Amino acid sequence: MKNIKYILICGAGMMGKNIAFVMASNPSYEVGVYDLYDTDVAAGIRNNTKELVAAGAITEEELASRLSRISFTTNMDSELISRADLVIEAVFEDMDIKRETFAKLEARCRPDTIFCTNSSVMSPSEISRDLKHRERFVGTHFWNPGHLIPLVEVVKSDASSDETARTVMEVLASAGKEPVLCRKDVPGFIANRMQHALWREAISIVERGIADAETVDKAVRYSFGLRLPQLGPMENADLVGTDLTYNIHEYILKDLEDTHEPSPLLKRLRDEGKIGFKTGEGFQKWTPEQIQQSKDGLNDYLVKALYGK
Ligand SMILES: NC(=O)c1ccc[n+]([C@@H]2O[C@H](COP(=O)([O-])OP(=O)(O)OC[C@H]3O[C@@H](n4cnc5c(N)ncnc54)[C@H](O)[C@@H]3O)[C@@H](O)[C@H]2O)c1
Repeated sequence: MKNIKYILICGAGMMGKNIAFVMASNPSYEVGVYDLYDTDVAAGIRNNTKELVAAGAITEEELASRLSRISFTTNMDSELISRADLVIEAVFEDMDIKRETFAKLEARCRPDTIFCTNSSVMSPSEISRDLKHRERFVGTHFWNPGHLIPLVEVVKSDASSDETARTVMEVLASAGKEPVLCRKDVPGFIANRMQHALWREAISIVERGIADAETVDKAVRYSFGLRLPQLGPMENADLVGTDLTYNIHEYILKDLEDTHEPSPLLKRLRDEGKIGFKTGEGFQKWTPEQIQQSKDGLNDYLVKALYGK
């Protein structure tokens, strides 16, 4: 593997701070963080990871040791940038800002510095379009909360080299992540394609009056949702048999939602300002207490599932 020591995180927002915390888990990495604006990265990381410390999933000493390997700058001409072996960009989700950021990085980094973008939806081929060395560029899609969810999708652009993708996978694994390779630059990469196929059907079930929103979530939670962490859909299809799966698909697929547009119900809710937790109503009504409970519940569940604490 290419020798990687200096990692730069470009953009110190919610994802950038969490990615810095993850990469600093490996003591052989020195992590630099760059942002346009001054921000207290250590305080942000402490705040984002307090549930891990409270649960005993990491010790205060381990947190302090990781923070000692993270440095911050607002200066594009800092050594943190010029010395970087690998950069993970996590600036605003805006194509022009991302392209400008990589142009500035390319002017300051070595030609073999590996460039990664954490964009959730934008194409790495398009983001890297104007770079001189496009072969050293890939997507690295971390999932939120980035310090907890293990998956990172490593997305090859139309020009990424196999070696770049391989090195990035190895670096992510060495920081405790579970990288997967997305061999084609397609919208939604791997996991969001499946997630939104499920959401499209879930919304359609509500829209067709088959069940209400709460019931849809209950049906997932107490059935295949429980076994998904252990048994993915492809292994499950083999478990029940490709013959049975074929027969089920022959019967059911013609009735499943296959629209290529967002649902009219979703559009109506959006247009009426019922945008979910942010306004207290979406598919369901939410009190401030229920919203807090949902957020805390997810983090507690993830810490228990991942660390057994
Ligand atoms: N929020 C999520 O759930 C999530 C999940 C996966 C991926 N992502 C992706 O991660 C990226 C960052 O998202 P976020 O939620 O952390 O955003 P954020 O708004 O919290 O942080 C963005 C940071 O980038 C900085 N910034 C903006 N322009 C910059 C520039 N030109 N140079 C340096 N820094 C700049 C901002 O000051 C800010 O600190 C986006 O591409 C987003 O799509 C987000």
